[in-house]
Amino acid sequence: MKIRRAKREDEEWFHLIYTSAYSGMERYAYRKDREIRRYFRWLFKRDRNGIYFALNENGSPIGVIACDSSWFSSYEHSNVGEIHELAVMKVYQKRGVGHKLISAGEEYLKARGLKKAELWVGEENIPAIRFYRSLGYVLKEKAWGEWLRMVKEL
Ligand SMILES: CC(C)(COP(=O)(O)OP(=O)(O)OC[C@H]1O[C@@H](n2cnc3c(N)ncnc32)[C@H](O)[C@@H]1OP(=O)(O)O)[C@@H](O)C(=O)NCCC(=O)NCCS
Repeated sequence: MKIRRAKREDEEWFHLIYTSAYSGMERYAYRKDREIRRYFRWLFKRDRNGIYFALNENGSPIGVIACDSSWFSSYEHSNVGEIHELAVMKVYQKRGVGHKLISAGEEYLKARGLKKAELWVGEENIPAIRFYRSLGYVLKEKAWGEWLRMVKEL
């Protein structure tokens, strides 16, 4: 499976992957098209080199990770590698795409000199919590209503 960096023109791919990944889990996602597009532009502005797509055998994007190598965590009182987004199209889930993307993201953050990765996950997003736990992410506090913070030493 190939991985490539995102380009500014990937807004449509991001939209497609994001809406598929979160179908049935809309409570933790942006729902409006314009919000999803704005979100991609925001991620791109935060760290254009930290966004990666996983590609299928035809070279089409099927999953995305968006990392941020210059995020200040007020919880860790330091800079961390923030994983803002990880999403895999429904039909491609449970085939190792998420693992591949998170490895690419963690490698990127390590190469940028970061020692810790941080992310937030919806408290009832049990498959994602299990997934992150199995990769060494540790549950921290609950905040912002229904969000759980998870951290991993890189
Ligand atoms: C969370 C998410 C990104 C995981 O992506 P994924 O591609 O399904 O992840 P993987 O396939 O690498 O791993 C998922 C599980 O499938 C298992 N798996 C991997 N390959 C497999 C295969 N060939 N056959 C069966 N199971 C497999 C993994 O062991 C893993 O199990 P675990 O979670 O118990 O450890 C995906 O489910 C998703 O997009 N969810 C919706 C969006 C979301 O919630 N994002 C996280 C926001 S914080």
